[in-house]
Amino acid sequence: MYVSMKDMLLHAHHNNYAVMAINCVNMEQAKAIIQSADEEKSAVIINISPRQMKAHGHGEIMAPMIKNMAEKVPVPVAFNLDHGASFEDITDAMKFGFSSVMIDSSSFEFEENVRRTQQIASLAHGMGLSCEAELGHVGQAAADDNSNVDLYTNVKQAKEFVERTKCDCLAIAIGTAHGAYPKGMVPKLDFDRLRELKTELNMPLVLHGGSGAGEENIKKAVACGINKINVCTDLFRHATNATIEAVKENPMIDYMDLCIEAQNAMKDFIKSYMRVIGSSGQYSFKKDNGPELD
Ligand code: G3H
Ligand code: ZN
Repeated sequence: MYVSMKDMLLHAHHNNYAVMAINCVNMEQAKAIIQSADEEKSAVIINISPRQMKAHGHGEIMAPMIKNMAEKVPVPVAFNLDHGASFEDITDAMKFGFSSVMIDSSSFEFEENVRRTQQIASLAHGMGLSCEAELGHVGQAAADDNSNVDLYTNVKQAKEFVERTKCDCLAIAIGTAHGAYPKGMVPKLDFDRLRELKTELNMPLVLHGGSGAGEENIKKAVACGINKINVCTDLFRHATNATIEAVKENPMIDYMDLCIEAQNAMKDFIKSYMRVIGSSGQYSFKKDNGPELD
């Protein structure tokens, strides 16, 4: 099922689990993600950023391919523009057939973030798409942004932000960051802030920087109210490692077989992550009557 993020995240919010949002730049990744969701009876979100689209996975090619694959499985699959920044990137994604967009104006001051998010959320809703926004700022692990408390989401501001923008889900900064953390380092998350945000907002909350955040942290974040977890770095790493191993084992390996090795390694990673965050098994289907939510 090709759907927006709205209902699947509300289901996660009401049933206390999280859905993976996985960055994807090609067919092998899309297949790995959608097959994993299908096999795990889980919803899933496929993410792509403007940078990734410019570099490799062009939106006008990715959107129809993903829509086509998603329509062949009974579980809900959303295709979301990740960290949309410019008006042009976001409206392009809408034209290409994305089912959801994220407007990330988290580097702007509060009023400007509200203004930009309001505009995109109302445009998205008018087209039946869901809209994710960000308040506070999830920065880069390489710059140690995860420990910069000044970047964390302010609870009072968040309440006002959501009321004024009408975004469907909110990405919050509570101690994770994008990319790989220094070797052996596991970030410290501000769970008290997360609990407060959940109580005040009572809506789907998003954790960016899901790679290397530590299984215990991830489980606790879900228990405290996270409903969407963005993962990119770890997935790409699994694909790269599997490719290296396969070439080491057989330098003459056929290119298609190499792609399949990477795809299978990504599936193993995705499926085990889905089990950790509780999305596995949330959707079951009756053969005669079509899809039915548990
Ligand atoms: O928006 C993308 C994610 O936040 C990915 O972060 O590469 O640290 O997993 P990550
Ligand atoms: Zn992110």
